[in-house]
Amino acid sequence: MHWKSFIIGLSLLGMGACSYQPQTHVIRIGEYGSLTGSEATFGISTEEGIQLAVQKINAQGGIHGKKIHMFVLDDQGQPQEAVIAVTKLITEDHVAAILGAVASSESLAAAPICQRNHVPMISPASTNPQLTQVGNYIFRVCFTDTFQGRVMADFARYHLKDKRIAVLKDQRSAYSVGLAQAFIHRFKQEGGTIVSIQSYDAGDIDFKSQLTVIRQRKPQAIFIPGYYTEVGLIARQARQLGIKVPLLGGDGWDSSKLFQIGGRALNGCYFSTHFTALSQNPRVQKFVKEFKEQYHSTPDALASLGYDAAGVLFQALKASRNLSGASIRKQIQHTRHYQGVTGSITINAHRNAIKSAVILKIENKKTLYIASVYPKKIK
Ligand code: PHE
Repeated sequence: MHWKSFIIGLSLLGMGACSYQPQTHVIRIGEYGSLTGSEATFGISTEEGIQLAVQKINAQGGIHGKKIHMFVLDDQGQPQEAVIAVTKLITEDHVAAILGAVASSESLAAAPICQRNHVPMISPASTNPQLTQVGNYIFRVCFTDTFQGRVMADFARYHLKDKRIAVLKDQRSAYSVGLAQAFIHRFKQEGGTIVSIQSYDAGDIDFKSQLTVIRQRKPQAIFIPGYYTEVGLIARQARQLGIKVPLLGGDGWDSSKLFQIGGRALNGCYFSTHFTALSQNPRVQKFVKEFKEQYHSTPDALASLGYDAAGVLFQALKASRNLSGASIRKQIQHTRHYQGVTGSITINAHRNAIKSAVILKIENKKTLYIASVYPKKIK
């Protein structure tokens, strides 16, 4: 009798292992982002930050005795690949929650799938305001472009004292279009004039015709809400055309590759972002030191946001009664004053984090810290 039940027990176990039931001794977390393509540093940096957070929590024994197991997929910076990636993470890897993506167009494409399947998604870095409006399972740990556009418009208007600005945007990127809109709205509201709005497509390599039109309008600065690969090329071509005014941008500039591509053409330009390793905050310095020991490089905004997104998720997992999407979601929503390396994170009713931005100036392929801008009453 004993033996029989033992054999039955074993075969049931065997069936369990063969079926698609997820393992229960680990917590399965998904991650998707651009590990290749022209925004590759976004995904790679985020992954490095997340890995550091995962190593730390697992070294402490994991969460409620279970180690974190990451499932990481490359979306190549393409929204349709992001859809494929999250679908696989949910249906095949059975992840409890998802971290990603960086570029807003990818996050916007993937978020409805997470929402429909009740799998909580935390974007470390997507700033397009619409993202978290997809539904109550979609969160971010960064500020939005409503704030970021305002920060750079005010900086141009009151610090640089500009009255006339041209805008050059990526017309198919949700991030670029949204940030351009927020900037233009604020700059005009503060009495500035937008002298020209020009567009390009990601992957373009020649921007001379748009820059020639802009040059004719004699702006005092050009706002370029794009990603680093195109921005680097635009900077070089602007200087070749004799355009000397500063170029201004947002967090999409935040990559060491920007300096490799743009070189000296970027001297005297400014951009806003989420983090600087130059901060004297002891928490930041400790993180920078640990990151350097692990990767032999300085963390950028994405490494830091990836680290914080993972930290917020782990805190929620610790507080969660079980691994159901509904329970994890509830705990992420409860995040208050989480002390991250990118600032204090409180998830508000719109599932956004209200945080400060930093403005950096570029000189000789390096950034200088100019200012931190704190949000007042902006969503
Ligand atoms: N905010 C950008 C977007 O939404 C992504 C980004 C964040 C890029 C931080 C660089 C640094 O697309």
